[in-house]
Amino acid sequence: MNSFSHENGILFCENVSIAEIAEKFGSPVYVYSENHIRSKARDYLTSLSKPGMICFSVKALSNIHILKILADEGCCFDVVSAGEMQRCFAAGIDAGKLIFSGVGKSEQEIAFAIKSGIFSINAESFSEIERISKIAAELDTVAPLGIRINPDISIASHEYIQTGKKEDKFGINTEDALSKLKEISNNPHLELKGIACHIGSQISDTAYFKEAAKSMLRVISEIDALDLTCSFIDMGGGGAINYINEKEMAPQDIIEAIEDVLKERNELLVLEPGRSIVGNAGALITKVEYLKSSFAIVDAGMNDLIRPALYKAEHKIVDVNLSLKENKTLKVVGPICESGDYLSQESQLQADEGDYIAVLGAGAYGSVMSSNYNSRARAPEILVNGDNYRLIRKRESVADLINPEINL
Ligand code: LLP
Repeated sequence: MNSFSHENGILFCENVSIAEIAEKFGSPVYVYSENHIRSKARDYLTSLSKPGMICFSVKALSNIHILKILADEGCCFDVVSAGEMQRCFAAGIDAGKLIFSGVGKSEQEIAFAIKSGIFSINAESFSEIERISKIAAELDTVAPLGIRINPDISIASHEYIQTGKKEDKFGINTEDALSKLKEISNNPHLELKGIACHIGSQISDTAYFKEAAKSMLRVISEIDALDLTCSFIDMGGGGAINYINEKEMAPQDIIEAIEDVLKERNELLVLEPGRSIVGNAGALITKVEYLKSSFAIVDAGMNDLIRPALYKAEHKIVDVNLSLKENKTLKVVGPICESGDYLSQESQLQADEGDYIAVLGAGAYGSVMSSNYNSRARAPEILVNGDNYRLIRKRESVADLINPEINL
């Protein structure tokens, strides 16, 4: 499925011309395909052969209008902060559909999650488990607990997006977790609800998911041996998408691989996909301001899309309107005062000054990672559905940036 494609040289998202959106809302602007998002969510939901939960990873794209669409499809959500929880609540999502992950949960965030009635708090250290227990005791209640295991698996992707090796900050070493299970289950303020792992992102081989599932099988077997039970096994997210030439992981293949290892188990299978649902649903549209030797200097920078600068990530960039002009080999760079501010080291583009180009694969970790560096206001977000489109986040104004310094 390709949500952005040219027809007679004009780039469309679904049935809407990208140039029309850029003319109306200005650039830079993020554009998303609603039907792409719905169809990817459905791929996950319908691939589960047993009861489970598809918890969209809110960090990938947290706009509340997108969360509403995913809730409408039947997704639950993986959140990593009180902010993300509140985004879910603003989208009308019940706390019982939320799993709270993350290594650094504050006391306030844990109390907020427990009081809200969250489905599970997936803890990543013994200190955190102690903190959860203490807060639950103060609130005179029982906290729903998941234990995030670090299975010590190294995947083939950028080192910053690997999370399952023992030297990473995430999760609890398997042996250590096993040694504390009994103690945890005896704690009257904790209810052991599940076990979790997330080995990293942009994974393009099912073998890694199988390996992680085997580690989880070992943990769940120990839970059986101790005569304990839990209700879910959370395998995290991580499915790869095709940016330029990468192998895309079909949700069905990921789920089949995991279900095959866990076929004897009856716990709910939880997955936390982010990128594979929204990544190729989005593009960042930007205008060429200047051409200077082999540089195309555009009006979007690393503050709008930091992935190339941060991970040397490669995104396909295409002309919004193709003509009969010749292609140029261009390095696409932004207006920010840093040499690392680029969107592509080498793209074949026809664009002249004043033309729009589209950075594809920008739906996940695009807008959510944007910043105000160089006092640049964040770009608006537009959602396309068939022939229609609507603004789902306004362009920030300079007043939005400086008011917190004025209104003290
Ligand atoms: N679950 C947990 C606990 C996670 O930490 C993450 C992502 C996910 C699920 C979703 O993973 P996904 O399905 O999207 O791969 N900013 C980086 C990616 C960081 C991923 C962080 N954790 C990037 O732009 O590539």
